[in-house]
Amino acid sequence: MSFDVHEPLTTIDDQDVKVLLLENIHADGADFLRNKGYQVETRSAALTEDELIEAIKGVHLLGIRSTTYITEKVLENAPDLLAIGAFCIGTNQIDLAATKRHGVAVFNAPYSNTRSVVELAIAEIISLARRLHEKSTAMHHGVWNKSAAGSHEVRGRTLGIVGYGNIGSQLSVIAEALGLSVVFYDIDDKLALGNAKKCATIDELLAVSDVVSLHVDGRPGNAGLFGDEQMRAMKPRSLFLNLSRGIAVDTAALRQHLESGHIAGAALDVFPVEPKAQGDPFESELRGVPNVILTPHVGGSTEEAQQDIGRFVASKLRAYAKAGTTNLSVTFPELNLPSDPARHRLAHVHHNAPGVLATINTILGDHGVNIEGQQLATRGELGYVVTDVSAEVGADVLKELAALPETVRLRQLS
Ligand SMILES: NC(=O)c1ccc[n+]([C@@H]2O[C@H](COP(=O)([O-])OP(=O)(O)OC[C@H]3O[C@@H](n4cnc5c(N)ncnc54)[C@H](O)[C@@H]3O)[C@@H](O)[C@H]2O)c1
Repeated sequence: MSFDVHEPLTTIDDQDVKVLLLENIHADGADFLRNKGYQVETRSAALTEDELIEAIKGVHLLGIRSTTYITEKVLENAPDLLAIGAFCIGTNQIDLAATKRHGVAVFNAPYSNTRSVVELAIAEIISLARRLHEKSTAMHHGVWNKSAAGSHEVRGRTLGIVGYGNIGSQLSVIAEALGLSVVFYDIDDKLALGNAKKCATIDELLAVSDVVSLHVDGRPGNAGLFGDEQMRAMKPRSLFLNLSRGIAVDTAALRQHLESGHIAGAALDVFPVEPKAQGDPFESELRGVPNVILTPHVGGSTEEAQQDIGRFVASKLRAYAKAGTTNLSVTFPELNLPSDPARHRLAHVHHNAPGVLATINTILGDHGVNIEGQQLATRGELGYVVTDVSAEVGADVLKELAALPETVRLRQLS
C-alpha cells in the first residue's frame, strides 16, 4: 500500500477550520460546529465528483450522507481535508482504502438509530399479532369486521431474535418489558440481557419462537440466511420480521409460507432489491399478501435519529480536529484522548511498520523535546501515535518527522 505524504500541519485556529456539510445534514450538526467557532457551509444536495472537487478546496472537515461518493480523485484534490463524517450508518459511498492512503479519518454514526429500529419492530410485532394492517385496510375499503379471530396479545409469547447486536439486544430488553419471553441466537458469544435465553443453534430458536425477528449484519455469508428450510422449521402460525438486510431472506419462499398459512404474518423493511431513487417503482413477491407490513427501509429513519446522528458525527469531527481523538473511527486506529489545552500535541499517522515509535522519540529527544504523555494504536496498515509535549515543536522537528518514509500525516494540534 502506498501512502500520500502531506506537509506537516501546524495548529489551525478554530475560526480558520472550514467545514462543508452536504445532503441536508440535520441542523444540529452545523450548529454544534459553528458554536465551536468553525466556518460551516451547508448545502442541501449531494455533489458529483467534479462539483465536490471544486467545493472541497480548503475544506478541513467534510460531512456527507449516503449519496455523495468519495473517490480517490476527490481525495487527491483535497490536501487540506482531515476527516470525513458520514452522517449515516453506511460507509459504502466512501473509498475507505483511499482515505487511509491519504491519512483522512472517517467517522459515522453506528448507533444513533438503534432505538428507532427497535421501536418499529415492537410496533410491528403488536400490529401483526392484532392483524392491524389488515383490519385498517378493510376499514379504508368500507368493511367493518369486528372479530377477535386471529388476534392475539403478545404477552407470554416467545420472541426469537436472530443477531443479538446493538439492535437485537435492545429489542430484547424492551420486548421483555412488554411481557414477551426472549430467546436469541448469535454466531458470536453474546451476553444475555435480562431473562433472555441464548440458543445454541438457529433451529433451537425456531422450534420455540412465536415471533422470529432478524437483526443480523450484512456479512457475505448472510445472503440467503433465511429461506424455505428455516421457514419450515418455524412454529405453525408464527410471525416473521426482517428489519436488517434484504439479502438475508428468500422473499419467494416467504410468500409461499404466508399463503399456506404456516407463517401468520410478516413485516419487512428491507428487500433484496430496493428502488434506487424516491418514486422509483417497488417490485416484490410480497406485494398484496394479507397481514404483511411493507415499509420502505425506514426502520432507522426518525427525526430523533437524524438529530442524534447530526450531533454525534459533528462531535466526532470536532474531537478529531481539536484533540486528535479517533474513538469510534471507521478506519483509523482508535485513541480516546483527553483534550488538554495546557499541552502541545503531535498527532502522527503512519504506515504501520516496526520501529516508527522509536524513531519518532529519537527525533524528539535529539531536539530536546520533552514528552509528557504518549499513546500509540495500530489498525491494519495504519499506525497512529499522539505525543503530548511541554512546548510547541519547531518547524525543523516537524519537517524531520514529516520526512520519515512511514509518515502519512502529521499535525501539531496546539
Ligand atoms: N431497517 C433499517 O433502517 C436499519 C437501520 C439500522 C440498522 N439496520 C440493520 O440492522 C442490522 C443490525 O444492526 P446492528 O446495529 O444491531 O448490528 P450489529 O453489528 O451490532 O449486530 C449484528 C449481530 O448479528 C450477528 N450475526 C451476524 N450474522 C449472524 C448470523 N448468521 N446468525 C446469527 N447472528 C449473526 C453478529 O454477530 C452481531 O452480533 C444490520 O444489518 C443493520 O444494517 C437496519
